[in-house]
Amino acid sequence: TTPAQARSLVAAIDQGTTSTRCLIVDDEARVVASAQLEHAQSYPRPGWVEHDPIEIWRNTVAVVETALGEAGLQAEDLAAVGIANQRETVVVWDATTGEPVHPAIVWQDTRTEEACALLASEPGRAHRFRDVTGLPLSSYFSGPKIAWVLDHVDGARERAERGELLAGTVDSWLVWKLTGGPDGGRHVTDVTNASRTLIMDLRSLTWSSELADHLRVPLATLPRIHRSSEVYGPGHANGPLPGVPVAAALGDQHAALVGQGCFEAGASKSTYGTGGFLLCNTGDEIVRSEHGLLSTVAYQLDDGPPCYALEGSVAVAGSLIQWLRDRLELIRDVAEVEPLAASVPDSGGTYVVPAFSGLLAPRWRPDARGVIAGLTAYTSRAHLVRAALEATCFQTREVVEAMRADTGHPIAQLTVDGGMVANALLMQLQSDTLQVPLCASETTETTALGAAFAAGLATGVWESLESVARCCRHGRRWLPDTRSTLPTTGWRDWNRAVDRSLGWAPT
Ligand code: G3P
Repeated sequence: TTPAQARSLVAAIDQGTTSTRCLIVDDEARVVASAQLEHAQSYPRPGWVEHDPIEIWRNTVAVVETALGEAGLQAEDLAAVGIANQRETVVVWDATTGEPVHPAIVWQDTRTEEACALLASEPGRAHRFRDVTGLPLSSYFSGPKIAWVLDHVDGARERAERGELLAGTVDSWLVWKLTGGPDGGRHVTDVTNASRTLIMDLRSLTWSSELADHLRVPLATLPRIHRSSEVYGPGHANGPLPGVPVAAALGDQHAALVGQGCFEAGASKSTYGTGGFLLCNTGDEIVRSEHGLLSTVAYQLDDGPPCYALEGSVAVAGSLIQWLRDRLELIRDVAEVEPLAASVPDSGGTYVVPAFSGLLAPRWRPDARGVIAGLTAYTSRAHLVRAALEATCFQTREVVEAMRADTGHPIAQLTVDGGMVANALLMQLQSDTLQVPLCASETTETTALGAAFAAGLATGVWESLESVARCCRHGRRWLPDTRSTLPTTGWRDWNRAVDRSLGWAPT
């Protein structure tokens, strides 16, 4: 490659719940190199989920170096780097030493449930949080997790108030590390990640001191809020990307929306990762959900107003398959799932409701717990695995129905991405459950692609959203089988099974 060509390469770091990926793409969004590493999941108590921020940083450095090496590139060949990250997961660290004061508390973690319920019991509080932030008061979001760390680590609250501790979501942690850490690192976040804290005002895109006070999060610890596409600073000389503009950060689901080219109001995508997340672009309008969805920032790519989205977040999708593998040891490899599920014509009347940490959208029931319903002596391993796939389909249908009720428009076709799209049977079952066609993107890596687009837009690799949209290519399609019983008796019995999961955990 000539230097001119090389400068149109963009790196994207996709720091997800289970792994960290680095993709290097060219200006037609073709993948030039990629690398991936998984990190440890720690479950110290029921409902608790933690990651090691140092391991996440080390993996980030390693995947960047591997991807560069694979393509025979140097950091200086890159025009920019963008970050997409697991959202709502918080890191609190020492501004001087760069040491995290506690493991990262992961978005799935429910330890702040009681604190949220207490806040919600104060008259008008839940309504005020929803009005300002677009979010229900739930342990899913990041603000209460920051407060928990400050309350449970010795001396942390005092140090935070003196400005000695920095807090943020994983985007903040990575940007700070990439741009120098204690040696001048930028403490920033973007509007999409900030919109998941329960602290950011969705209209003004600034921290609300009123809500920060209610949550007991000192504003001094929080990052500055920036656009999703903007040069935050250059990569530090001692980091893996010296001199490379760090030019984008987006929550991974928002990045996938960008990576799918969903730039028009009404455009939506469904991502099947650790969880399942359906986002529908609502343009410059904040649509308030009456049916259990969230209002969130979709992205802010230029200095104009942001784009907003309605979102349905499902906590457990791919992680149910991991649970079948790692905890139940029902399968050895994820690759076994599709043939095993396809070996039976249906789930034999079995339903799995994976409410491991309650249910998020559209029900918001922290008191729900997992249920397997409909077992008989006939039920086999294959039926259980197939029922696990169907659980993802039914949960997505709940969100699609809420979306339809809120927007008044049925979704005519669902655009899908994420790792689970590789499971063609799952996609067929999804199409059947919804009775709408599905259309996958050409690559399953739309999350990384979205971060690359945002970073490339900030640095002139792409001139406009139109030039980005031209690079979004579609892949496989699935058409619904109109004879399927999933949308009829299946849907009815799924709802019966969910009823049994509600209220299982006393609140
Ligand atoms: O809100 C959590 C979400 O950002 C996690 O995404 O892709 O790691 O399941 P993923």
